[in-house]
Amino acid sequence: GDEPNRSSSRADFVVVANRLPVDLERLDDGTERWKHSPGGLVSALEPFLRARRGAWVGWPGVADVDVEPFDDDEMQLYPVRLSADEFAEYYEGFSNATLWPLYHDVVVPPVFDRSWWHAYQRVNRRFAEAAAEVSAEGATVWVQDYQLQLVPAMLRELRPDLRIGFFLHIPFPPVELFMQLPWRTEIVRGLLGADLVGFHRPGGAQNFLWLARRLAGFEPSRGQVGVRNRPGVVQVGDRTVRVGAFPISIASTELDRLARSKDVQQRVRKLRADLGNPRKIMLGVDRLDYTKGIDVRLHAMHELLTEGHIKAEDVTMIQVATPSRERVEHYKQMREDIEGQVGRINGLFGRVGHPAVHYLHTSVDKKDLVALYAAADVMVVTPVRDGMNLVCKEYVACRYDLGGALVLSEFAGAAAELTSAFLVNPHNLDGVKDALLAALEIDEAEGRRRMRALRRQVLTHDVDRWARSFLEALGAPLVE
Ligand code: ADP
Ligand code: G6P
Repeated sequence: GDEPNRSSSRADFVVVANRLPVDLERLDDGTERWKHSPGGLVSALEPFLRARRGAWVGWPGVADVDVEPFDDDEMQLYPVRLSADEFAEYYEGFSNATLWPLYHDVVVPPVFDRSWWHAYQRVNRRFAEAAAEVSAEGATVWVQDYQLQLVPAMLRELRPDLRIGFFLHIPFPPVELFMQLPWRTEIVRGLLGADLVGFHRPGGAQNFLWLARRLAGFEPSRGQVGVRNRPGVVQVGDRTVRVGAFPISIASTELDRLARSKDVQQRVRKLRADLGNPRKIMLGVDRLDYTKGIDVRLHAMHELLTEGHIKAEDVTMIQVATPSRERVEHYKQMREDIEGQVGRINGLFGRVGHPAVHYLHTSVDKKDLVALYAAADVMVVTPVRDGMNLVCKEYVACRYDLGGALVLSEFAGAAAELTSAFLVNPHNLDGVKDALLAALEIDEAEGRRRMRALRRQVLTHDVDRWARSFLEALGAPLVE
């Protein structure tokens, strides 16, 4: 909420993402303030960039506003303006009603609209121009995510001196699905403008290598791409483009420390008391998105209650859902469905003062979030497709007590790393129900054994390691 400071010097390390790490919020009384932006990309990158004093080019989260560049602690922020039309066509349209569903296994049908594509090109050019202006000679520029896939090639044209990395935070789809996109070749060529293209999983990298040949006619290397090593290679004229897998993570130590704090422990006790000290708490924490499978867990809970496997007196569920992309049609629809499901469960199984499902359509602050994780006996993460999913890693990082159990979808990127979770196929409702029951009834020793294994993974593979492995593969100098 402070008065922004003007920024001036050009930067040696620049992140370019659709969103700035902070969102401009306009209050009813006409005043403005900055708040933390939603989503995993910001959660992961912000702590890293603060420590490196880099610049961040992004949109301030509101259409039709001009904001001058400013410093936020150690970071320089460079706002990019979007008009109301561009917000509708580039952000809500092409990014979130075309690419998002297409890349998430066409969970809902993607919309292909030519005017959205034109807006996507126009806005990508604006981001490329902003990045070109901010970057010092020979700087490293790290472009993020599906909203900006044309930026690497556009930026290279403007500034051939730069070292350009690109990382995709969502899944890269099977080639059969990607081939539906009318502008598939342009997207592949856009990405090939980078020196390194990174994905969460080797499968995504492998798909992209195949498309580089099929659509752009370049000969890719043949070997299997490894995790954090053995990147694939595409020779693009006299340039070598590397293509690798770099699973993202969280600031695990910081969360672990926060979970141990007196303040958080007090919040945990208060939370349990407010809930009437139930025997077991189940928890879901997501952006309200149709890929997250919130409906799956509610459905499973409904059946478990109906069949008498669990009782609402014993088991309470909390679902916290951050509002997201609220004007996009499928998001509106899903919100209605989920709120209907919650209402039905509470109508049937709740009592006065004791709903079976506590549903909060809001984001919560960090300490309250950590307290929720620390209080939850069972964390339920059931996306039908998710690039990584950071929520499950955050839960694990908060369980220094080795308590709690994690139910995790096989279709989250994190499942490849968190193999000691109760892994489920979210399309198999009986399997989800069985896993929830097993997690609710797990004996203490077995629970601790699993949680210890999960923590070993999450604490040794943190976001700093992710960023370093990417930047190392990019050949960027690792400024402390
Ligand atoms: P996505 O990026 O698709 O939203 P991730 O699980 O990778 O999914 O990241 C979500 C991030 O947003 C996590 O850091 C999580 O803590 C945060 N988050 C999600 N829901 C909430 C909420 N209701 N309140 C506060 N933070 C939330
Ligand atoms: C995911 C995407 C991010 C996006 C975030 C929040 O994490 O990978 O690029 O910023 O969701 O979504 P939003 O549309 O609000 O930026």
